[in-house]
Amino acid sequence: MSNRLRHLGIIMDGNGRWAKKHGFKRNRGHEAGAEVVREITAFCANHHEIETLTLYAFSTENWRRPKIEVDFLMRLISRYLKKELKNYMNNGVRFETIGNLEPFSKELRGTIEKTKELTKNNTKLVQILALNYGARDEIVRSIKKLLQEKKEINIENISDFLDTPYSDLDLLIRTSGEERVSNFLLWQIAYSEFAFTKTLWPDFTTIELEKIIENFKKRERRFGAV
Ligand code: IPE
Ligand code: IPE
Ligand code: MG
Repeated sequence: MSNRLRHLGIIMDGNGRWAKKHGFKRNRGHEAGAEVVREITAFCANHHEIETLTLYAFSTENWRRPKIEVDFLMRLISRYLKKELKNYMNNGVRFETIGNLEPFSKELRGTIEKTKELTKNNTKLVQILALNYGARDEIVRSIKKLLQEKKEINIENISDFLDTPYSDLDLLIRTSGEERVSNFLLWQIAYSEFAFTKTLWPDFTTIELEKIIENFKKRERRFGAV
């Protein structure tokens, strides 16, 4: 029996290098990357197994980038969500986020909340954008909430109080040739399969995704057993 792919996570990396390669400013790479998010999300919504797609869009460490790039990314996220609403509805996608939204502008938080609200009854796919997300931050916040509610610290409770009570990740893909996790879903990848590709995110296609999934299907997942 082949593996089931219910929860796919992607570290979308390489926008800046893609732009540089084509002689553009980094922002053009982020714009091109947003188009790929749209295509991959539609593919996953129409895939018979995938229930959740978690995309790393902005890490807790990405604030270290020049202000001009951070500001551009904030505007891009807002623009993407507004433009995407029609596609979310057409493709049956529910929009969710993980990460701490507090530092974002009121306007952006409003757009995020509105998109969640409007898409909450869609059932073909949950698209989760990781925004100001860091796995260490998420785990700490989970434990703080458990302590506040005087609950026992155990694996099940920590999982339940994460931003993602959605499920463990089955497959994690990172584009651009970097082979590291960069503080993405540490807790949820305990038994994930990994796939690294040299393709830069703006060049990533559904054809390549299909190939990666095909390879994932053939792997033997043991979960510690024999
Ligand atoms: C990923 O592309 C997008 C974000 C982190 C927001 P990068 O911007 O990290 O692109 P590279 O790694 O510099 O090529
Ligand atoms: C990870 O990519 C974060 C996102 C894709 C949003 P980075 O480009 O920020 O990661 P590092 O700095 O290369 O590890
Ligand atoms: Mg990068």
